This record gives sequence, C-alpha cells and structure tokens, in this order.
Amino acid sequence: MAKPLTIAVPKGRVLKSVIKLFQRAGIDVASLEEDDRRLVRTADEGRLRFLLLKPDDVPTYVEYGAADLGVAGRDVLLERGYDLYQPLELGIGRCRMVVAAPIDAPPPAGVPRVATKFPRIAADHFAQKGVQAEIIYVQGSVELAPLVGLSDLIVDLVETGTTLVENRLEVVEEVVPISSVLVANRAAYKLRATDIGPLVSALRESVRAR
Ligand code: PRP
Repeated sequence: MAKPLTIAVPKGRVLKSVIKLFQRAGIDVASLEEDDRRLVRTADEGRLRFLLLKPDDVPTYVEYGAADLGVAGRDVLLERGYDLYQPLELGIGRCRMVVAAPIDAPPPAGVPRVATKFPRIAADHFAQKGVQAEIIYVQGSVELAPLVGLSDLIVDLVETGTTLVENRLEVVEEVVPISSVLVANRAAYKLRATDIGPLVSALRESVRAR
C-alpha cells in the first residue's frame, strides 16, 4: 500500500473544531476521537494518519516533510515565518491578537514595555505605527506582566476575553485577527497532488458549509 497521507493536527482547544470540520468533509476521524495518549492515529484503512502535536510544532513537522498537511494557527505562522503552502483558511480557532493594558491606565510615559509570547508580531506592530517599544519575551501567563510592573502593555491572543477581564485588563488596539490555516509541505503538495487535491476540495466545501 502507498505511504499514508500524513496530517499534523493540534492537541488542545482547537482539536474539537478540527474533528468536526474534517468529519463534515468526509474524512475518517474515528481514531482522532479516541481518548488515549497515542500520538499517531491511523485512519481510512491505513491510507491516512494523523499526528497529534503541540499547536506550535505543526508547521515544523509539515515544513520538514514529516507530515504532508497540517492545521496551524495564523499566529504561529506570522511569528515564525515558515516555507509552506497555505491552501485554505479553515475559519476555526478564531481569536484576536491585541494590545492590552490595565483598565483605565494612563498611556505609558516614554518608551512602553510590552510583554508577549509573540515578539516578532509585537515588534512589527509597533514598528508599523512608528512607535518605539521595548519588547519583553515571556512564555505564558502574559496577563500577569503589567499587574506586577514587568511591562506597561501586553500583546496576546484573546478568545473569550475572560483572561483579560479576570486580570482587570482591557483591549487597547487590535493587531490582527487569527484563525487556523491548512498548511501543506511544498514538495508533497506537488508529488501527492492526487491525494491532497480532493482532500483540500472536500475541506473547502466543509468550511463553506459551516
Ligand atoms: C491563551 C492566551 C490568553 C488566553 C486567552 O493562553 O495567551 O492568555 O488564552 O483566552 P480567553 O480570551 O478565552 O480568556 P493559554 O490558555 O494558551 O495559556 P498561557 O497563558 O499559558 O499561554
């Protein structure tokens, strides 16, 4: 049998939406729904396999050809700049990249300090506005930074807005809307066009039908 077509999917928040979208596209997702710790899930009688990855790692696996296709967040793609095809916006995993600050805080005097998990996106945003900013990289719990004096502002993702509210922060500016994107390895996209083409078409229909 031919090598299975390999699709890298993100564990966590977005996986449920990925499963629904794929199911509507007629893709065999039964193995993805099984609640266990296997990182490789075979589907469609061995013609397909899924890799379950940390969301940030999906583009890496696809760029190096360890997976043919993947579901990646626009945030990670913008932040790290991979060499990938991006044949389809999936319309799931929707959230916003924003600048936020403590509620009612006066605008920072001097060069603002900005804490973020996305230093490149943040730096590009302030550079485009012609505003000088000091970007401070943190790995998570970004909302804490302005509460304890590490930074004046944050650049981070907002989905429901709960984390901002519960930490008494508010959105100051929108940076960019974010959602999940289908990414494809450049070589696989050409060499496996007969497998990938129909799958992308089915997913496109599934996105339309949402
Ligand atoms: C993300 C993001 C925000 C939060 C936003 O963090 O960085 O902190 O979710 O979601 P909300 O608007 O629905 O509250 P994540 O859960 O990935 O954890 P982290 O802080 O450890 O990065």
